[in-house]
Amino acid sequence: MSGLRRNSFEQSTAAAAHEPLVDRFMRRITDIRISLTRRCNFRCVYCHDEGLGPVLPARNVDPLEMTTSHVLKLVEVAASFGVQSVKFTGGEPLLRPDLAEIVRGSRREIPRVSLTTNGSLLQHRAVELAQAGLERVNISLDTIDPEAFRAIRKGGLAAVLRGIDACLSAGIRPVKLNMVVFSKTLPFIDEMLRFCAEKAGLKLQLIQFMPELAGLKEWMVDIDAVKRDLAQRASSVEVRTMHRRRIYKIGGAEVEVVDPVYNREFCDHCQRLRVTEKGELKGCLNRDDDLVPTVGLDTEGLRAAFRTVVERRVPYYGVYVRDFPERLPDTGPPLRAAQPPPDNAQDLPQAL
Ligand SMILES: C[S@@+](CC[C@H](N)C(=O)[O-])C[C@H]1O[C@@H](n2cnc3c(N)ncnc32)[C@H](O)[C@@H]1O
Ligand code: SF4
Repeated sequence: MSGLRRNSFEQSTAAAAHEPLVDRFMRRITDIRISLTRRCNFRCVYCHDEGLGPVLPARNVDPLEMTTSHVLKLVEVAASFGVQSVKFTGGEPLLRPDLAEIVRGSRREIPRVSLTTNGSLLQHRAVELAQAGLERVNISLDTIDPEAFRAIRKGGLAAVLRGIDACLSAGIRPVKLNMVVFSKTLPFIDEMLRFCAEKAGLKLQLIQFMPELAGLKEWMVDIDAVKRDLAQRASSVEVRTMHRRRIYKIGGAEVEVVDPVYNREFCDHCQRLRVTEKGELKGCLNRDDDLVPTVGLDTEGLRAAFRTVVERRVPYYGVYVRDFPERLPDTGPPLRAAQPPPDNAQDLPQAL
């Protein structure tokens, strides 16, 4: 058998060992996002807190937070379903002292392990995290103007900038800078593009402000106009499988746009499961009526819980919410469910 053939054989055998998680809309789960805490040391004006409710004070003890071993058990079960990437988030995940232990354990199960953080506590932990196997990170940075930063995030910019440099020095690549795009940050996009072009290893991620959980719909800006502007200036545009996100290369910077609001194409290509800090599986950021608790379950119980939450998954825009101002007329026909929509579909919310 040639080397090539042996590799394909081995690959197909490994793939067969995993039962894939596929929902009724043929969306395969490849990615899991785990909230490790609801506590946070910032108070960003736009925070949707992953749909968990308002963040809690950083110094509080939260007895409901998952233990290290439960987080790692969930990661192991996700890996057994062929999940390829895990991202830890919060609240602020760096408030967990066991974060490096969680990253190390996760790397044994899943190839891509990442983190989304406000960056304020990274400076002294970047090396520990890199040694634990963290290869990539998202750090939230809406502006490099200190006053605007404080007004938006209610925290200090300097520590975040030191955290970014510490990650780059520790060899963590890429460092993606998450910038929420809304009325208060729109003027800073070009400045952020320049900032990313100047430092190797940085990428910009523009996240459309999501009012679904945060309210304040009046803060939204025309994200399609932002995308048109980026497309005109870009030397290349790529489309990612996940959410059909666009990636633009502009003058030495790379910028990815995450624009879920009123975006059927985004939901049709969502391959992500979520876990709340209490260990509940969650099929969609915007929903909390599909939670499946997992604490106390054995391996078979956990596997059943994963299957249950995936059975309940429906595209948010297009099926869960049917009446909304469609943004992308060229996204093709809507996905058809292999099974009918849930019984309560008529009770589901309409446009924001
Ligand atoms: C909820 S935070 C949790 C992780 C960490 N505390 C941080 O700020 O990066 C995860 C990401 O969601 C983004 N985010 C929070 N509220 C948002 C909203 N209403 N619309 C869009 N993105 C939001 C944040 O900027 C951050 O990049
Ligand atoms: S740092 Fe993250 S979790 Fe904390 S308030 Fe800001 S967006 Fe929310």
